[in-house]
Amino acid sequence: MHWLVAGTGAVGSLMAVNLRRVGEHVSIKPRVPGKARAIEIIHAAHSLEFGVQQFPIEQPTQIFAAIKAYDVANFLEELKQAPLPAGSSIVLSYNGMLENEINIMPERALHWVTTHGAYKNGNEVVHAGLGESWLGWARVEHASSSRPAELFSVLNNALPLLNWSPAINQRRWQKLAINCLINPFTVIHDCRNGELLQHNITELQHQVAEEICWLAEHQGIQLNSESLVESARSVIKNTANNYSSMLMDVRQQRRTEIDYLNGFVARQSAAAGTAAPTNETLWRRVLELSA
Ligand code: PAF
Repeated sequence: MHWLVAGTGAVGSLMAVNLRRVGEHVSIKPRVPGKARAIEIIHAAHSLEFGVQQFPIEQPTQIFAAIKAYDVANFLEELKQAPLPAGSSIVLSYNGMLENEINIMPERALHWVTTHGAYKNGNEVVHAGLGESWLGWARVEHASSSRPAELFSVLNNALPLLNWSPAINQRRWQKLAINCLINPFTVIHDCRNGELLQHNITELQHQVAEEICWLAEHQGIQLNSESLVESARSVIKNTANNYSSMLMDVRQQRRTEIDYLNGFVARQSAAAGTAAPTNETLWRRVLELSA
């Protein structure tokens, strides 16, 4: 299979090196078109070079887009202008949710939701915490269609364990909650995920989780706040060494995804007529700290 990995952040880089490891042909689509003909990624003390490719694409290619939530709409718009050849699929991985996403998802789009923890240090990608992932069709009307067997098996070999999910939205809400329960706190305390255990945040996490459960239920998804806080705790332990993507964004003076995490919860709750004050406070605080 030919793969085009869009996004050379931690997750995109981790997937690129692991797809290469299992023998796939991988090129990279940089966010900003430039003159570079190859991109170097260092992984486990090996330096790997990837050819660079932009849209349009002539042969069937699987796209793995590990991009920022705020880049999703533009990325999908770019794809619309240069439609992919038959046989191509688009696997999307991003933190958080967009208000209008059901209107912009292409036919062959899938969501890949992961609990693997990774961070980048210059060109080097560090797989800091083993997790698992879920894959499912992005468009609700395709949710129960069968899984694309070959694509699934390659992704599973590259970065196990992968689960097929006909209810990927449920997973996405869980992941949204985990990120809302971890990422802003790592920014506020300027610490690795594991160091959060030394801070007194459990009460706040319960409030964040309860607000998310209310909104999820309002949108037809059942979640349980106790188990969300519990899951966040195990992700914190499994990715103890990891710097969250949000803290990395702040440290590198990039825009964070807070608008699509706690900000999304606060705005959507307000639109539904209920305040989500703890999510709102975390949203504002991270905006201040990253200004
Ligand atoms: O955004 C992140 O950094 C990751 O999703 C997670 C799971 C919080 C681990 O750091």
